[in-house]
Amino acid sequence: MKALVLSGGSGTRLRPFTYSMAKQLVPVANKPVLLNCLENLRDIGVTETGLIVGGYASEIEDVVGDGSALGLEVTYIHQSAPLGLAHCVALAADFLGDDDFVMYLGDNILADGIEAAATAFREGGADARILVTKVPDPSHYGVAEIDADSRVTALVEKPQQPQSDLAVIGVYFFTNAIHEAVRSLRPSARGELEITDAIQLLVTGGRTVLAHEYHGYWKDTGKIDDLLECNRELLGRLPDDGPPSDGVDSASTVHGQVVIGPGARVIGSVLTGPVLIGAGSVVENSAIGPDVSIGPDCVLKDAGLEHSILLEGVTIDGVRELHGCVIGRWAQVRAPDNDDVRQRLIIGDHTQAEVSA
Ligand code: DAU
Repeated sequence: MKALVLSGGSGTRLRPFTYSMAKQLVPVANKPVLLNCLENLRDIGVTETGLIVGGYASEIEDVVGDGSALGLEVTYIHQSAPLGLAHCVALAADFLGDDDFVMYLGDNILADGIEAAATAFREGGADARILVTKVPDPSHYGVAEIDADSRVTALVEKPQQPQSDLAVIGVYFFTNAIHEAVRSLRPSARGELEITDAIQLLVTGGRTVLAHEYHGYWKDTGKIDDLLECNRELLGRLPDDGPPSDGVDSASTVHGQVVIGPGARVIGSVLTGPVLIGAGSVVENSAIGPDVSIGPDCVLKDAGLEHSILLEGVTIDGVRELHGCVIGRWAQVRAPDNDDVRQRLIIGDHTQAEVSA
């Protein structure tokens, strides 16, 4: 079985970060989302992996390389515009040949792996097997209707009036039957070649499409609040290695799971786990956590921060009571100089700030 990983797209719901980086490279628990996906593929024994990339191809290549560090052989497939998930299958047709493959959306996290679904698909009996899970808000997703034998009877992309609560999550197992369906697709109302339409064609053509209910933790990280929620979940799964032995001075206190990266220092601070502090970062006279990931080379002084993600090189100086923040690379958040009570913001397009009235 081969893999096709989708790491193009526009990422408009993750602005402003996606103005300067691929959404699949935004870190959750200090690891790019895309690496979680590639590790799950490695764990089901896949090696040959096609990686669809768009505007941030070289950044993704810098992180993933040829895939050998992960035990994969990665072939890059360039998509000039985000023309749809089924367009990605069409682009990859030569790479995929007639092999079975697993298609994996590179912004989805399935924290409990995909072994059970892969095993079921390998046992045969289905032309396609799609992962689904029950959600409270199905209209945001592809929605599957199924019969008592888990056969998919209908599939609709983001319906206004969903007929079931089963959302299609980002992993699909296909035989080569999907290629003919993709070839006969026309663009949808939003101008994309939809994989849901291709799978619906399999269903109406009498092919066997099975739904595999995923009972593990799943999140589409395409929106800020989902990213933070996923960060909280993955931090909660950090291995319990006891208190950190290096990098924390005697004036600091540590509660719960805290992982300190190489060269990072914590001075006179209170850390309430789960907290991750990236390599080379300095935290001084601050209260951090719970549910905080701090990237590499950040500087936090007189700061208070919970339930947040800081990317590389962030400075926070003299600002407390921060929560639910995602702060991009090399951004600075500082208290005003002197006793100025006014608030000064220099923020880019589509940035969100909630400041005191
Ligand atoms: O997260 C699950 C949902 O993912 C499913 O329930 C939907 O049926 C499915 O269509 C998809 O919906 P999204 O609106 O979340 O798809 P998104 O545009 O975010 O694209 C998913 C991934 O595929 C993302 O990593 C970007 C990549 N992509 C997307 C398009 C449209 C590409 O590489 N090329 C593309 O042309």
